[in-house]
Amino acid sequence: MVQLHDTIAGFRAALDEARRDGRTVGFVPTMGYLHDGHASLLSAAAADCDVVAASIFVNPLQFAANEDLSTYPRDLDRDLAICESRGVTHVLHPSVDEMYPGGPVLTTVTVAEITRRFEGAARPEHFAGVATVVAKLFSILGPGRAYFGEKDYQQLAVVRRMAADLSLPVEVVGCPTVREPDGLAMSSRNVYLDDAQRAAAPVLHHALLAARDLAVGGDPDRPGEPVSADRVRAHLAEPIEAEPLARLDYAELVDADTLEPATAVGGRQRLLVAARFGRTRLLDNVAVP
Ligand code: PAJ
Repeated sequence: MVQLHDTIAGFRAALDEARRDGRTVGFVPTMGYLHDGHASLLSAAAADCDVVAASIFVNPLQFAANEDLSTYPRDLDRDLAICESRGVTHVLHPSVDEMYPGGPVLTTVTVAEITRRFEGAARPEHFAGVATVVAKLFSILGPGRAYFGEKDYQQLAVVRRMAADLSLPVEVVGCPTVREPDGLAMSSRNVYLDDAQRAAAPVLHHALLAARDLAVGGDPDRPGEPVSADRVRAHLAEPIEAEPLARLDYAELVDADTLEPATAVGGRQRLLVAARFGRTRLLDNVAVP
């Protein structure tokens, strides 16, 4: 049976008990409205850990004033049923007051450099909000392992770097992106898309796969030679720019750890893309090779 906690103290006490008994605690932080992508993280945690805890908290710190905080989709009963079906035993679902009593926090966590570009450029306060709430959640429950999706690749890089820089005693585990049958990465925000936007949205994944093939296959005009990073970027951008319902935000080839734009193809890299479909911003990425 999944136990729902609305206080930090109750959640912490329940997990203290598990840790005292020597059980490993796996943690999956979420903002709720769970889909198969979230569920894959819960299952990964259940496969590795003795106890699985999740949080469902739409964190106001990571939303800008013009963003969808008040309309962010919510369905607690359904979320709890999904948690239960994946073996979660403890869920923290605190109010904003419980997490941030007395209003905005004075202490925040910021991760420099890797937050400068991409989502950080589009949403300047976003990653400080994410890093602060994740650090707070880690400190509330002290998980041995915490699971994050590669779908939000920059977020995963930020959390890894924060945990390393602050020597947090937690292993940050990245899990592969779960997709709809047509390739669209699952996201709680996909419900905002109208039918035409939804039909157009898989262009992101298709463009990523084509750009990855080009990067891996080498220069088609000069067999045996690597293709240039700029050509890979252009190949990623073109099909998205050609889609009338999409407005490309960025299309980049970056180092997989630092997220610095690549000057040449090679090593561990990642293709990142973001585009707007109407008012909905969608992100996706794939590994290269
Ligand atoms: P949320 O968007 O609810 O996502 C929670 C976790 O699910 C994140 O680690 C995210 O990368 C992962 N996820 C989302 N879609 C996925 C997919 N299609 N495949 C695999 N994993 C997927 O990300 C957040 O919440 C918040 O920023 C949070 C970390 C909870 C801090 O508030």
